[in-house]
Amino acid sequence: MAAYGTAAYWDDRFRRDPEPFDWYQRYAGLKELLSKYIRKSDAVLMSGCGSSRLSEEMYEDGYQSIANIDYAAPVIEQMSARHKDKKGMSWQVMDATSLSFGDGVFDCVLDKGTLDSVLCGDNSTANAARMCAEAARVLKPGGNYIIVSYGQPESRLTYLEKDDYRWRVTVHTMRECCSCPVVCGSTRCGGSPSRRHCDEWNRG
Ligand SMILES: C[S@@+](CC[C@H](N)C(=O)[O-])C[C@H]1O[C@@H](n2cnc3c(N)ncnc32)[C@H](O)[C@@H]1O
Repeated sequence: MAAYGTAAYWDDRFRRDPEPFDWYQRYAGLKELLSKYIRKSDAVLMSGCGSSRLSEEMYEDGYQSIANIDYAAPVIEQMSARHKDKKGMSWQVMDATSLSFGDGVFDCVLDKGTLDSVLCGDNSTANAARMCAEAARVLKPGGNYIIVSYGQPESRLTYLEKDDYRWRVTVHTMRECCSCPVVCGSTRCGGSPSRRHCDEWNRG
């Protein structure tokens, strides 16, 4: 599982497989929940976008401003070429633990699987804390940090429930659809891709 926490793993994976792939959920499975927290006009930061279709599907549904970052340069190159016609979408190679954005510029930071990935790597506790501190810094007052995670809530809340942030944290548990403890994107759950990610995590 530690491989998921290294930039080399992701660089290589995206180079070998440039096809779109969504971890856990497609937009269809998250749409209702996201609409409770994000307005279509909000400035959204997609942290660790990978080759997911989440940004694209949100954009097609009317979200107008989505900044996408990932520390894997190959996927940013692929995604920016794929979506070059979409005004309001940007793609940058950037580390989520050290963002180049100014303070208070986003209404929402959205992370699907990126904190999970950071927690698989070396110095995971410090890096996860840095990632949350950076999300707090770039959020506007009243903004939302949304994390879609495979982890048990208590293993993630420890990073979020800090006095420094004064965040009000809400946990939404997604419906299970197969043997893994999170909802994956199977058609039964209203998402897509397959059980591939579940099998990968379960193999560890
Ligand atoms: C499990 S994948 C999730 C990808 C995508 N968000 C999705 O839902 O399909 C984790 C992603 O986070 C990226 N990532 C991991 N650590 C990162 C970091 N410190 N900064 C930026 N991106 C990171 C990886 O390159 C990979 O694209």
